[in-house]
Amino acid sequence: MRGGVHSWDDLPMTLVPGITVRSATEADAAGIRLLVETSFGTRSDEAWLERAAQLFAPLDSIVAVDGDRVVGHVRSREMILTVPGERTVSARGIAGVGVAPTHRRRGILRAMYIEQHRRTEAQGLPLTIFTASEGGIYGRFGYGPAVRQNAVTIDRRFAEFLPTTPNPGGVELVALADVTERVREIYDRWRRLTPGAQVRPDASWGNLFADPERFRGGGSDLFTLLHPDGYALYRYHHEAREMTVEVAEMRSVTADAHAALWRALFGLDLVTRITAELSDNDPLPYLLTNPRLVRTTARYDGLWLRLMDVPAALTARDYRTDLDVVLSVTDPFREAGGVFALTVRDGRAECAPTDRAADIELGIDVLGSMYLGAYPARVFAAANRLQAKDSGKLRALEEAFGADRDAVLGWFF
Ligand SMILES: CC(C)(COP(=O)(O)OP(=O)(O)OC[C@H]1O[C@@H](n2cnc3c(N)ncnc32)[C@H](O)[C@@H]1OP(=O)(O)O)[C@@H](O)C(=O)NCCC(=O)NCCS
Repeated sequence: MRGGVHSWDDLPMTLVPGITVRSATEADAAGIRLLVETSFGTRSDEAWLERAAQLFAPLDSIVAVDGDRVVGHVRSREMILTVPGERTVSARGIAGVGVAPTHRRRGILRAMYIEQHRRTEAQGLPLTIFTASEGGIYGRFGYGPAVRQNAVTIDRRFAEFLPTTPNPGGVELVALADVTERVREIYDRWRRLTPGAQVRPDASWGNLFADPERFRGGGSDLFTLLHPDGYALYRYHHEAREMTVEVAEMRSVTADAHAALWRALFGLDLVTRITAELSDNDPLPYLLTNPRLVRTTARYDGLWLRLMDVPAALTARDYRTDLDVVLSVTDPFREAGGVFALTVRDGRAECAPTDRAADIELGIDVLGSMYLGAYPARVFAAANRLQAKDSGKLRALEEAFGADRDAVLGWFF
């Protein structure tokens, strides 16, 4: 942003012959709607569109047009993201990326991304984040997966708690509409502790609480279990003669809330299976006599992250251990790379360009994967995506970048 006003429109770009990339205008609204619905295969209703416009200011969107036809679209908003050390960073969250099937693989996504990231750089935000539909596209733009999620299925009928499992009680059966403020308050306490979680805007709450039928996957509307420090929102699926409960969103601020909510869920006697999404170190398996009952059925990334400004991003989070390391970072897409000295004392970092020799060489996408603490450095070293001068530096880097709490995406966008 220059001079505090949006003046992007004076810079329409023609990186792809016949295609102009520019800011969206009100006249593009119908074209954007059709393109987004086509790209993701879901229709939207007026209430949904209104909340989408509150989440992502329409005039901040970037479109690619062929004549007056919208053939590409990217939208974004500033988000406050929790990073290790219970600190927060401003990040640009990108969403709604789509290119018309009639115009694929001509470089339109690349052209829109060049413009989107040029704007983000001008705004001085240290990070960009988004949820990716496919894993093979975004490494070239300097993004790495930064949050890991596990889909699990538990045969509830055989689940028994260990004698060591807390039984604090305190869970109430409530109607979601009666407790929306309490749910929001718990989420906000949880997201302040959890790397990867974002401040959640009203419109995102509106989408969750509206619970439109087309996003229920054939299940019931949302049921709610509430604890003073946690909540579980879940739906029932009736299949043949069996009932499955799908936990749609569970947030617990404390270990007691986590155990209490799972005890209540396992108390749903007529339910055969419970499905949920867990982070890597969720303690659920270790509350049970048979940890194997918590069966992982899929494992995927929940958030992708790119450092826009390496020193600003690396000093915005805290670290587990002291560190002295020189990082050589390559950026295939922008010019954020370089050689940086990173020094950590008592958790806090200083980071600046240096002409010292590098101890570690890595791509900016790898640094993005390590940033929230979910992906260890040694994995990338083994994959030849990170080169360390010696194993001591590699170990020190991995220890320092670890986080005390698993990274979790707060709300999907
Ligand atoms: C994904 C999508 C936006 C790509 O748009 P596009 O204009 O065809 O992409 P581009 O031609 O600009 O390609 C940019 C680069 O990504 C690569 N790429 C594009 N789609 C890819 C895919 N599905 N898998 C792997 N690589 C892909 C291209 O090869 C190109 O590489 P290069 O620039 O290094 O040579 C488009 O296919 C789409 O709208 N898909 C459906 C909706 C969707 O998945 N959106 C993404 C949400 S995160």
